Amino acid sequence: MDLDDVRRTASEMLSKLSRVVVGYREEQRLLIASMLAGGHVLLEGVPGIAKTTMVKALGRLMGLTEDYVEIGGVRYKGFSRIQFTPDLLPSDITGSLIFNPSTRSFEPRLGPIFAYIVLADEINRAVPRTQSALLEAMQERQVTIGDSTYPLEDRGRGKFFMVIATQNPVEQEGTYPLPEAQLDRFLMRIIMEYPEGLEDEKNVFRLHLGRLSEPYEELESIVEPGWLIEAQRTVAGGVDVGEDILDYVTRLVRTTRPTIFKPAARFFELGASPRAGISLIRASQAYAAIRGSGSVEKQDVDAVLFPVLNHRLIPNMDRVIEAEEEDRFHARVRVIREGLKLIVDQVSA
Ligand SMILES: Nc1ncnc2c1ncn2[C@@H]1O[C@H](COP(=O)(O)OP(=O)(O)O)[C@@H](O)[C@H]1O
Ligand SMILES: [Mg+2]
Repeated sequence: MDLDDVRRTASEMLSKLSRVVVGYREEQRLLIASMLAGGHVLLEGVPGIAKTTMVKALGRLMGLTEDYVEIGGVRYKGFSRIQFTPDLLPSDITGSLIFNPSTRSFEPRLGPIFAYIVLADEINRAVPRTQSALLEAMQERQVTIGDSTYPLEDRGRGKFFMVIATQNPVEQEGTYPLPEAQLDRFLMRIIMEYPEGLEDEKNVFRLHLGRLSEPYEELESIVEPGWLIEAQRTVAGGVDVGEDILDYVTRLVRTTRPTIFKPAARFFELGASPRAGISLIRASQAYAAIRGSGSVEKQDVDAVLFPVLNHRLIPNMDRVIEAEEEDRFHARVRVIREGLKLIVDQVSA
């Protein structure tokens, strides 16, 4: 596999996705970039705007179904959806030991996290302890049940592991927003808004006219799941990151920190960590690969800057309150956007 294969397949995915999800072109490109970079994604947006649909469509294109495959003695589902609710327990995600009366012993029952792509739907509806079970598994890429530890990823055997979580930004009664320290387990937070214009929204309705089933159900797979492992390796090893880009990323990350660049304090209480910088580089490489380039350019870094950093920065609350015209969520987003613009201008000057 070479970079051109990756570009071609990514572009086929984008064109297939565009047939079943109206709009959100850039959001879809970012989702595929995260997948190529081996990262997990948080999709944030109000209900009913095709978040779940987009993830299910991606699963189909990747050749993932609800069927099980056995790899190294562990059974994994291709695609698994976990609906988060207030009564969901950690063991409902990871699994547990159950007593088998016929053998008079405890046997592991692996939970729905044992899959290639896990759709963690509406994660902010579960209690923090359950959210933590998911986030820990995402980080460790393995799960311990009883005395045994099971891998969630087995790259040598073509098994990848990706969590795509969705979250509603409207803080309703009985929701538990994830703290920033946990949010940084996600490579990107991709924010999805309502369809932009009247015509875009009309096109959504048009797509569903005269149909009883969901359009994404008609999608066929275009690759085998194992394709991704190869593609990730090709991107990480094949897309050059020049000294100038490394320098640019380092300056961007450092400039977000009020301790280093004082004016950043007007926007951020807390800047980006080294982990954020590593994520920025990985995501830029994947973005460049999708664009068909063998080396990262400034435009790639700029394209992923907001989705990679927006959930890791803590905005200055005084400014958020000043900016609050609609709701708290969008005020926070606006402050982070403005802050990042200042950072880019400062570093580029
Ligand atoms: N932009 C869109 N393109 C295609 N279908 C859409 C779009 N927005 C909403 N829908 C349709 O609306 C319904 C709700 O979508 P869903 O993916 O469940 O939303 P969410 O997960 O954001 O709550 C589905 O039938 C979906 O196909
Ligand atoms: Mg949904």
